[in-house]
Amino acid sequence: MASAPRMASVSTSTQTLSEFSSDVVVGLSHPGQKELPSKYLYDEVGSALFDVICLLPEYGLSRAGMRMLERYSGEIVNRVPGPVVVAELGSGSGQQTRWVLEALARRQRVNYYPIDISGSALFRCQQELGQMDMVSIVGFERAYLDGLQEVAARRKDGERLFVLFLGSTIGNFDRPAGDQFLGEVRSILREGDALLLATDLEKPVPGLILAYDDPAGVTAAFNKNLLARINRELGGDFDLNRFEHVVRWDEAERRIEMHLRSTVWQRVTIRHAGVPFHLREGETIWTESSHKYDPREVVQMGERSGYRCAGQWFDTQWPLAQNLFFAV
Ligand code: AVI
Repeated sequence: MASAPRMASVSTSTQTLSEFSSDVVVGLSHPGQKELPSKYLYDEVGSALFDVICLLPEYGLSRAGMRMLERYSGEIVNRVPGPVVVAELGSGSGQQTRWVLEALARRQRVNYYPIDISGSALFRCQQELGQMDMVSIVGFERAYLDGLQEVAARRKDGERLFVLFLGSTIGNFDRPAGDQFLGEVRSILREGDALLLATDLEKPVPGLILAYDDPAGVTAAFNKNLLARINRELGGDFDLNRFEHVVRWDEAERRIEMHLRSTVWQRVTIRHAGVPFHLREGETIWTESSHKYDPREVVQMGERSGYRCAGQWFDTQWPLAQNLFFAV
């Protein structure tokens, strides 16, 4: 077996079991719509399933991101004067980032700081990128903003921070929360720092539904794994066979929603939570939103949060935008 490349990393247990447990209790006790935060979809099993989703013919988002960065990284990087240090929010597998780092490494040594709450995601990133010439990696097992603060504190005078937020993860925030998040990132940056933000664009609904409800059932497994994770980590007794994966397009909010629908009336207990929950037949637990954007709206989002847009690049096969912003 090939040995894993080395990467220094900074880790603390940022997501404790009790935080997970209290988020689950709050979400399942909601009067009206029950919900669970989408960040809990990504344990080790969930992250592996997400990697498979990215290979599905129906889900073109990550391939588009990759295609675009392969094609435009040189151009994008040329607009960001150096020297820069790179911080990535949510490193994922690191495949898209490779193109940006390669373009930068043609002109400078690169310090790259992937930030992810998942240790396994950082490990995969290290496997993918750990042996690049001219690139050194220090991973931060942290929530995005905590990690970014630490990276910002490490940069030297004269270095510009170049933040990557790829994969349209911003779409998993509600629109106001997305604005707020960009504003919080801005508050950590200095004037002139750069942000490359990928945003999935609006497209015909039938294709979008298929992308999130693929016939092979991988996205269904990804969604249901959240209940399996609660069983594993919090002592829950969810019967996964009594739930079905449901995907909806909300026209007013311009977002895909993923839900888990209870097929029967049922009572669920979660040992760690100490209280039982009841689900009616047909009742759903809302697990994720994926907002889709209009390119002009993304420019305005940036402007509202303290940036100016210095360029937008588009993929033609799967409408996706890479948006380059500078902190003003
Ligand atoms: C990570 N995020 C951008 C994905 C999306 O498309 O919203 C998560 C995902 N959920 C189901 N399929 C993919």
